[in-house]
Amino acid sequence: MMLKEEINRLRKEKNAVILAHYYQEGEIQDLADFVGDSLALAQWASRCDADILVMCGVHFMGETAKILCPDKKVLVPDLAAGCSLADSCPADRFAEFVREHPDHTVISYVNTSAAVKALTDVVVTSSNARQIVESFPQDTPIIFGPDRNLGNYINAVTGRQMLLWDGACHVHEQFSVERIVELKAAYPDAEVLAHPECKGAVLKLADVVGSTAALLRHAVKSDRRQFIVATESGILHEMRKQCPDKEFIPAPPNAGTCACNECNFMRLNTLEKLHACLRDESPAIEVSPDIAARALLPIERMLDISARLGL
Ligand code: 13P
Ligand code: SF4
Repeated sequence: MMLKEEINRLRKEKNAVILAHYYQEGEIQDLADFVGDSLALAQWASRCDADILVMCGVHFMGETAKILCPDKKVLVPDLAAGCSLADSCPADRFAEFVREHPDHTVISYVNTSAAVKALTDVVVTSSNARQIVESFPQDTPIIFGPDRNLGNYINAVTGRQMLLWDGACHVHEQFSVERIVELKAAYPDAEVLAHPECKGAVLKLADVVGSTAALLRHAVKSDRRQFIVATESGILHEMRKQCPDKEFIPAPPNAGTCACNECNFMRLNTLEKLHACLRDESPAIEVSPDIAARALLPIERMLDISARLGL
């Protein structure tokens, strides 16, 4: 309680805003000025007029905010909050891949380092990836990285043959097809909601495939009462808050007995670390000016196309 009061006092005193991703602990989401998916967080950061922006999410989300707001202090409660998907695409190897296919448009998922974004023509998130890919003529040769599951999904729904980087998220790769089939049998009226970072075999079982924000929106408007949710379990907090009379069942991973699926990187952020980073104004995200300048263009392109498409 004291901690929350201190955080409130500090954010007022320092003109700071707290942004949180849906995968954060519920108590962080409840305290944030804004909670959203990766696209909404980037859109919010681009319009933010605070002096300090605290990104309760992972490193690439902080980097994206810093690139959009170079004059602001951008803090992340724990700088070790990385992303296995971003790590699966080192910039030097991605640069080589891009060099090998010089006639290709490069589309990168936002879950990448600033250095990878600097090699990219347009950044996308899971909220706008399909629409941004479709904004290019059907025969445009495209490199899509780094998530092979999202890339395969977009290839399947658009009939394209984008060249894919072979990366994945360790959380979304883990969902068990067998156990989701068992859950569907146990809850025959439930809809299966899945994030496109899940494997193709899981997406085939899904009634709805979408970003965290899209899955949440669907849960709110659907007339079903039960949902099996195949994405990081932090999203269940907001789903249960917005739909107190509906039941949300986390899809289980392959291994172990845990009924949840948590991103260990996202969960590095705690209320204590949020308080300490606001108090100390550290750790702050820094991006080298050269990389930031090159990474800004594809992020701005994403924001412009999304605004045009009303996303
Ligand atoms: P969203 O685009 O739904 O925010 O997904 C971000 C993410 O990290 C998924 O693992
Ligand atoms: Fe990265 Fe996966 Fe965690 Fe999302 S859930 S931040 S993709 S490691």
